Amino acid sequence: MNILFVCLGNICRSPVAEGILRQICEQNQLHWHIDSAGLSDWHKGENPDARSIHNARKNGTDISSIISRPLLEDDFDKFDEILLMDRQNLKEIQRFHSFVPHAHKVRLAGTYLHVTNPPEVPDPYYGDEQDFQKVYDLLFTIAQAMVSSAIGRK
Ligand code: 4NP
Repeated sequence: MNILFVCLGNICRSPVAEGILRQICEQNQLHWHIDSAGLSDWHKGENPDARSIHNARKNGTDISSIISRPLLEDDFDKFDEILLMDRQNLKEIQRFHSFVPHAHKVRLAGTYLHVTNPPEVPDPYYGDEQDFQKVYDLLFTIAQAMVSSAIGRK
């Protein structure tokens, strides 16, 4: 399974999603390829936002060595699932030429919670520590749901 998490900057939300899912996969001996990318290249080459690194570390997840990169056209070929954080991401990804033939791979990460109205993972960039904690908690729940459905637990 090849999973790509995508947000706007690839420094706050998607690196946390990558780190958490990688950790839960390791704990369950699942050998998935997990990566993250940004819809912008604003933070290309940078490590995650210091507040995300700090919050993730506080929750037991090390994301300090992840490096931001922009989403590329060939990611649509390379990955089985491209999981977005919010509905604005969903709008923006449609400007990629590769989107239309691969639209079936693209969805909100929150759809893994199997609720009628999938939650967005809100952008914490202008927020505070509580907002970063909400991001962590939601992404942890989503990653657990992904792994549980893969290994047949409910
Ligand atoms: P992310 O958060 O999409 O979760 O990485 C943001 C990071 C940077 C900016 C906005 C959101 N920015 O405006 O630079």
